Amino acid sequence: MEKYIVGGGKKLEGMVRVHGAKNAVLPILAATVLSGDVCRIYDCPRLSDVSHTIKILETLGCRVLFSGSTLTVDATSADKWEIPEELMREMRSSIIFLGAVASKMGKARLCAPGGCELGNRPIDLHMKALRELGMTLSEENGFIEARADKMHSGDIHLSFPSVGATENIILSAVGLKGETTISNAAREPEIVDLCEFLIKMGADIEGVGTEFIRIKGVAHLHGAEHRIIPDRIVASTLMCAAMTTGSEIELLNVRSSHLGAVVSVLRESGAKIEFFKDKMYIRAPQKILPVDIIKTQVYPGFPTDSQSVVMAALCKSEGTSVIVENLFENRFKIIPELAKMNADIIQDGRVAVIKGNKLCGAHLRAMDLRGGAALVIAALGAEGESVIEGIKYIERGYEDFDKMITTLGGDIIKHKEAIGCGFKRE
Ligand code: UD1
Repeated sequence: MEKYIVGGGKKLEGMVRVHGAKNAVLPILAATVLSGDVCRIYDCPRLSDVSHTIKILETLGCRVLFSGSTLTVDATSADKWEIPEELMREMRSSIIFLGAVASKMGKARLCAPGGCELGNRPIDLHMKALRELGMTLSEENGFIEARADKMHSGDIHLSFPSVGATENIILSAVGLKGETTISNAAREPEIVDLCEFLIKMGADIEGVGTEFIRIKGVAHLHGAEHRIIPDRIVASTLMCAAMTTGSEIELLNVRSSHLGAVVSVLRESGAKIEFFKDKMYIRAPQKILPVDIIKTQVYPGFPTDSQSVVMAALCKSEGTSVIVENLFENRFKIIPELAKMNADIIQDGRVAVIKGNKLCGAHLRAMDLRGGAALVIAALGAEGESVIEGIKYIERGYEDFDKMITTLGGDIIKHKEAIGCGFKRE
């Protein structure tokens, strides 16, 4: 079992590059199946979630080559339509393969994703929309069987702009005869990236990035090359690392337009933030100011994925801040861990009230991806040493997280427990 040992209190400095976005690469890799051709994806992060997705692609009959940060997917011989249970269980977001596989192969069999570390993650919106497009879906013993032979275009209205449901509908509709529309679609940058990739593959999609998407089905899609957008959540994590350590750092490969809500909150906290093309400069204030209220919302509102790292930064503020988590209440699971570091947080359902305090090092356990990253951010700004277990969660979404922090001069070491002989330094 691996863990991070973090020395707190060291200022960060210098520049680090932000890798490609996990939440963009996963649906884009699912989309490669639709091409029946060779696709090349640049700036693909090396994450455990990407490794799981590659295993799924290989199971479907694709040949995959990962060289540096370029992933080549050859889907010319992809003809399988079943995804084994163990691969589905590894990663909840693999439900994104449902639309792509069923529409390409005519059928699909996969198991329902069930819960994940963020609690129960329903897929009712996916199922309802795909049924409205004529997909036959049956659920038995935890498995979903899909048939696409009666699928047709249609007008879908989402009662909530779910990211995954919007992606599943788009992946299903690009090859359907006629015009499909999605109203109240999700507008996240990762959906725009998926649509841009599909358009390069020959898809006809209008309204990309708006809440009303129009898809005209095409008979044939082909291979394409695409560079993944920068990961806005990784960028916000590093910005919060600058905040807790009172540092000045620069980030390379960022898009200011994707970071508006987080930048606004951190400026309210006293940070100086400037953008120069694809670079960002952040200088933390001497004293972090509290923020009246942060409410997580769908894009372009404040992202739920950045909530935990911002909470870690606010734990060190001079005053009281309030966070309302509207999407995944289980993100508050880190509160007891932060409390071990002397953080003063009171939770009532979806609301957390954070009173700024001095943080001290502690023995901590990561329980989800972004919460795990937030513990590292808090530990970097704490007095003394922290040990963070459960880093497999962090590695789902951050490529070489420890190396990003050490590049900035932070004190973090990854330890691997060698069976029977204590710890081994890496
Ligand atoms: C995606 C992101 C995740 C991010 C989330 C919200 C990926 C791989 N993951 O997850 O990092 O936190 O968007 O920005 O891109 N819901 C339903 N029924 C459904 C689907 C969703 O009730 O069928 C609810 C969920 O419980 C949640 C909310 O809708 O409360 C948002 O979920 P959704 O936008 O679907 O998130 P994901 O696509 O799972």
